[in-house]
Amino acid sequence: MTRKIIIDCDPGQDDAVALLLAFAANSELEVVGVTTVAGNVPLELTERNARLMCDIAGRDDVDVYAGCSRPLVRSLITAEKVHGRTGIDPLQIRQPSRPLKSQHAVDFIVDSLLSTEDGPITLVPTGPLTNIAMAIVKEPAILDAVDKIVLMGGAMREAGNHSPSAEFNMLVDPHAAHVVFECGTPIIAMGLDVTHQVLSTPDRIERIRALGSEAAVATADMLEFYNRHDMEKYGMHGGPLHDPCTVAWLLKPELFKSKRCNVAVETTSELTAGHTAVDFWGISGRPENAEWVYEADAAGFYDLLVEYLERYSR
Ligand code: RIB
Ligand code: CA
Repeated sequence: MTRKIIIDCDPGQDDAVALLLAFAANSELEVVGVTTVAGNVPLELTERNARLMCDIAGRDDVDVYAGCSRPLVRSLITAEKVHGRTGIDPLQIRQPSRPLKSQHAVDFIVDSLLSTEDGPITLVPTGPLTNIAMAIVKEPAILDAVDKIVLMGGAMREAGNHSPSAEFNMLVDPHAAHVVFECGTPIIAMGLDVTHQVLSTPDRIERIRALGSEAAVATADMLEFYNRHDMEKYGMHGGPLHDPCTVAWLLKPELFKSKRCNVAVETTSELTAGHTAVDFWGISGRPENAEWVYEADAAGFYDLLVEYLERYSR
């Protein structure tokens, strides 16, 4: 049974790898569309980068939409120091073969969900949640067609990566994150606690590079660049591979362990904006609104990534 998904992303190297993984899984996942949001780099780059991944994957059947160019309330913060000026350094940037769709991403999400007739759609956000929140506020009825939201964001034991207490996606748009976590739809939340277990070590990158296809070599090149920031910062022997964890969960959920918890997002404090208060021990009495993913089989994850990227070599 093919699962219909919409990936909402801010490529960014790890978003780009999530797209390549999802595109390779074309018998398991039907990518209804890719929507883009400002985050790692500004919107005009995230949408271009998403279209470039469609080209590299040879998926001219997938349309890319641009969404919100800034968060709901706060000013946009970006992360060129991590992702490079293009957002997908060190790849050679070329003009994508196909144009950006003219419809706004939020309207595409609303229209797709209101019109779907052959089963629900899974939302897979891997950037700030501005587009998803806007769609929910604009038309709450869309949630009847969403079976779950599988998102990358938040942190519990790992603390923050872009402020002392907040993970980047939550920090960029905490108000949007609040709307999403309060919407009532089942959420699978992949935070830093799990993504920091999934490290792109040199041997894993070489295993990917050896596949030889343009998609595999692009993945290896992007991960080598993307790794350096976190390896220096954390002293890790590889960089965390955040966003592809969402797609890997869709393909092989048994690679992960999770616990139903309440997750609440700080929206008022300037000091801790975007902090995800994960009630892992059920202390608050607040409703359990998410599956908080806390463990990954990292070796199994990379076996899966290689298995699917190998499909580009056929
Ligand atoms: O904190 C990691 C997240 O922020 C990832 O989604 C990365 O792409 C950035 O968007
Ligand atoms: Ca991202």
